[in-house]
Amino acid sequence: MDWKSKIDMTRLPKHVAVIMDGNGRWAKEHGRPRVFGHRSGVKAVRETAEAAAEIGIEYVTLYAFSTENWNRPKYEVDALMTLLVSTLRKEIRTLNDNNIKLGAIGNLTELPKKCYKELIEAIDKTKHNTRMTMLLALNYSGRWEITNAVKKVASEVKAGNIDINDIDDDYFAKHLNTKNIPDPELLIRTSGESRVSNFLLWQLAYTEFAFLPIYWPDFRREHFYKSLVDFQNRERRFGKTSEQIT
Ligand code: FPP
Repeated sequence: MDWKSKIDMTRLPKHVAVIMDGNGRWAKEHGRPRVFGHRSGVKAVRETAEAAAEIGIEYVTLYAFSTENWNRPKYEVDALMTLLVSTLRKEIRTLNDNNIKLGAIGNLTELPKKCYKELIEAIDKTKHNTRMTMLLALNYSGRWEITNAVKKVASEVKAGNIDINDIDDDYFAKHLNTKNIPDPELLIRTSGESRVSNFLLWQLAYTEFAFLPIYWPDFRREHFYKSLVDFQNRERRFGKTSEQIT
């Protein structure tokens, strides 16, 4: 099926978030170590970035490493960080060829030094690109982000810059890592798991979810296109009735 031709290009989501899950299980099925699954997942990252940029999505956010992922065996954490460094280095060219700007959300300064340095360098080398922004969620969790925002808002109140009664959704959202970035309209999660896993908890309030029964290393352009078609076939009511929408 040619899913790309079925996409209504006038109704694209501006922002698509992705939970890249199932690398470990994919590797196990192939009789290989978990790290091989992560390495194989890089091709899916590239395909997603290229496909999204080509059709005109403005933002793609990828959940690459959660604050909970530090609890994995040390060798796997080390391998993920090494993979991140080498992928950032290698893929700067792909990002520039596709006019994609790199960004990141999460507790970045607590990443291993080498990883942080490579990330900042990649962000700098792609900062003039304009077609799409690809955000990597690294050392990220939604609860961490919200707690952090609460601290920032509390200090604004303490400094007398805002009255408590004037705090609203918009004001709060400006203190999140995603300030000035629209909430994702679509979240794709691979691997068949149907949960949010502490990802973008504030931003997903009205997001449509697509849970795909394939592992991340098998994710290709066609899966991305089909998820967009399914998204466009849904009725998004935002608390209203169906009649009010039509
Ligand atoms: C989840 O699969 C995946 C991760 C924790 C890491 C994702 C990282 C990549 C795809 C590699 C490179 C990415 C970038 C952006 C450079 P899992 O290990 O939890 O799989 P499992 O649930 O089957 O064990």
